[in-house]
Amino acid sequence: INVGILFGGRSAEHEVSLQSAKNVIDAIDKEKYDVTLIGIDKTGQWYLNDRSQFLLNSNDPKHIALNKTNKDVVLVPGAENQKLLCPSDRNISGNIDVVFPILHGPYGEDGTVQGLLKLANIPFVGSGVLGSAVGMDKDVTKRLLRDAGIPIAKFLVFHKWNQDDLNFDEVSQFLGLPLFVKPANAGSSVGVSKVKNAHQFKKAMEDAFQFDNKVLVEEFVEGREVECAVLGNQTPIASNVGEIIAQQEFYSYEAKYIDENGAVLDIPAKISNEQVKIIQDLAIKTFKVLCCEGMARVDFFLSKDNKVIVNEINTIPGFTKISMYPKLWEVSGISYGELIDKLIVLALD
Ligand code: DAL
Ligand code: MG
Repeated sequence: INVGILFGGRSAEHEVSLQSAKNVIDAIDKEKYDVTLIGIDKTGQWYLNDRSQFLLNSNDPKHIALNKTNKDVVLVPGAENQKLLCPSDRNISGNIDVVFPILHGPYGEDGTVQGLLKLANIPFVGSGVLGSAVGMDKDVTKRLLRDAGIPIAKFLVFHKWNQDDLNFDEVSQFLGLPLFVKPANAGSSVGVSKVKNAHQFKKAMEDAFQFDNKVLVEEFVEGREVECAVLGNQTPIASNVGEIIAQQEFYSYEAKYIDENGAVLDIPAKISNEQVKIIQDLAIKTFKVLCCEGMARVDFFLSKDNKVIVNEINTIPGFTKISMYPKLWEVSGISYGELIDKLIVLALD
């Protein structure tokens, strides 16, 4: 079976994707699978196998987070000499049996690549077009969860072209303080800010609008942050639960990938068996309500008064060395290699 591993991509999580891809490439059973590397640079150009290596090699963790908006995309020297490959190249559609998209954020986790693969009739790991698209958009996600009676944090939505009703006093009166500002379509906390006053609010909105035309303003849920992994198609299963203990103001991009001491992962989380069960059931319900397939990680808040609240879903969860998804399965009895195997089997199902 030839597995195409798709990595990099145009989103602000390009570098995170490279780190995820490296781990998946390491862990995949090479006796069982042939691997075809398909790298996408920040401008959206595609590179096959050896020609894609420069992307993986350019992944110096120190460079991560530079240029998060991709506004001034600079390719590593020599990249421009690489032969270009377009998605319809025969090498791809002819030989590849299944694609594992390890692309985070827009243009990868949002249904766009999934649509392309559907058109080309190539099976792929993870959610289809619909699940990917709704899971990427935090506003649509939350409206669907609310409709299904799943507890979520209070939120407001603002559009770039309609900021007239952006009144800090009204917003803070409704949501309380501090509050969170987030681009609707982004991941890894890119463009996310915690806001305590009007000045910070203005700056936070400007930052978030750099990444999306739609921005969410959310109430801050005081308490703990826990995550649960889901695996399967029609009858998904949920993993054990892990806790994120952020050592900074919140679990920001820097806390995740830059600052080695930015966060501590506690797996399994020190919570009661009853709470684990509630979280697992809600993770599976969330996965189904959002029409997901294959895999997802559902992130929760555990409030001070012990309420379980769904924060968001990640349909292509991180596979980096600090990422919860593979770790949660490891403690639940599925090794990294086995997990990739199961994901490929589910894709071909
Ligand atoms: N969006 C990142 C990759 C995650 O959720 O793990
Ligand atoms: Mg998250």
